[in-house]
Amino acid sequence: MPEFRRYLVNIDSISTHQLFTDCLVVGAGIAGLRAAIEAAEHCNVIVVCKGSLEDSNTWKAQGGIASVLDKTDTFESHISDTMKTGSGLSDEGVVDFVVRQGPELVEQLFQWGTEFDQIDGRIATTLEGGHSHPRIAHAHGDETGRGIAEALIRKVRGNSNIRIIENFFSIDLLTNEDNECVGIIGHDKHRPSGAGQIIWAANTILATGGAGQLYRETTNPEVATGDGIAMAYRAGAVLRDLEFLQFHPTTLYIAGATRALVTETLRGEGAVLLDNGGRRFMKDYHESAELAPRDIVSRAILEHMLKTSSTHVFLDVRHFDKEHFAKRFPHIFELCESFDIDISRELIPVRPSAHYMIGGVKTDISGKTSIDNLYASGEIASTGLHGANRLGSNSLLEGLVFGKTAGQIASQCTEAGVVHIKHPLIKYQIPHSDRTRLDTADVTNSLRALMWRNVGITRTAQPLSEAQEIITFWQRYVMDKIFDGPAGWECQNMLTVSGLMARAAQMRRESRGVHFRSDFPETDDEHFKKHIDITR
Ligand code: FUM
Repeated sequence: MPEFRRYLVNIDSISTHQLFTDCLVVGAGIAGLRAAIEAAEHCNVIVVCKGSLEDSNTWKAQGGIASVLDKTDTFESHISDTMKTGSGLSDEGVVDFVVRQGPELVEQLFQWGTEFDQIDGRIATTLEGGHSHPRIAHAHGDETGRGIAEALIRKVRGNSNIRIIENFFSIDLLTNEDNECVGIIGHDKHRPSGAGQIIWAANTILATGGAGQLYRETTNPEVATGDGIAMAYRAGAVLRDLEFLQFHPTTLYIAGATRALVTETLRGEGAVLLDNGGRRFMKDYHESAELAPRDIVSRAILEHMLKTSSTHVFLDVRHFDKEHFAKRFPHIFELCESFDIDISRELIPVRPSAHYMIGGVKTDISGKTSIDNLYASGEIASTGLHGANRLGSNSLLEGLVFGKTAGQIASQCTEAGVVHIKHPLIKYQIPHSDRTRLDTADVTNSLRALMWRNVGITRTAQPLSEAQEIITFWQRYVMDKIFDGPAGWECQNMLTVSGLMARAAQMRRESRGVHFRSDFPETDDEHFKKHIDITR
């Protein structure tokens, strides 16, 4: 791999526009917003996000948030389902910590205005694959993420201790000579191109979300390009388990349309998968059929697509009452209508796509990373909850719990005067590159196709090596450039994270959880019941 630069841009801290804050939150999904609310109890906070506050994976979440909300359910059962799905790599202490805080924090969201759907005066719950009890709370039918995000955004906007800067691209974490994080350098879209902005912070919480855009097929919004992981890598943080990328089995597949998630709760409530011959095939692959864990359903669909020479399979919801469907799943109902699919008569074409980054920046149970004064929470973090496979709807719960925890711990350090911002003079000069100009969109499109083909649902040694070679070649002429806008920095970040993911996938010579190697189809506890850490 080519030698990586510490920073993507030239920095001269003296002449750069500067802001100061006690706590900086990078990202505005559930984890970032919840962290900001908590931290603002004790100190002043700046939240920056790449797009608008509404541009997040949280906003797009459909199914819901998993929690023990029903008297007939138990913490032990939720813990056991999470551990089982994690395939030997979940940390039981972390699972216990997250699961037990669920009911209180979900109730708090309700108090803050999230309109969870109710039944008989209590929060209604439904089922998803891998859960042995219906424990998925949902809001506005299948618009749970929007319901949660709107409530948190209202809280954040109404808090005078929180300043929000939207359309701010975070380029790099700044570190001092003791390798403590002291803030970030970024770019505010409303300022001239090329002009950087430094935000010095006593504590920084990374909550930048996932990296689904590394793949041609994804449920993720355009902002999910893995920038936080790449920044943390350049700063020297320990990354963990990057080979574990979860694919969602059912993404709407219509040529030319953006890929949209079709929630798993549909299958939880009776939708079945059919092939192009109209046959229900999931029973051939797993006894739980459509409600088998996601990795199994995704691989089964892929295998079945190959067997039947088809580009997709179908979800059948024709047996649902149409009026009930429109109320329970308004988003999917509208989506189907917009493509002239009458769900009472026609099938919904679907196929798997990249959905959730399980690995990420390694943290301890308080959200601390390996770099002092730097925290991570939400999808970017590898906390130990998900292990090698994430149980559906556990991610919003994780973001909620670790957002609160990181916000609390970071702000307490600030309040107690434990952390002082030692903002050094930073002067960093990149040698001039005289190589040719680049079409970065062409590079990122090629990269996304390569990742889908070679580092996708089923992996094997040769394509993984080929992916690394090609990515290394692209890196040679992309990483030495100095860009002055987000498209270039995103391209550099995507190459960095993709290279690391392919490398981790190559290193794990076994199949476990979401990582399936057709050349090593068995789980190998003797050699691989462990995490794979990568540091720069
Ligand atoms: O299918 C879904 O609604 C996705 C849920 C999740 O990824 O947790």
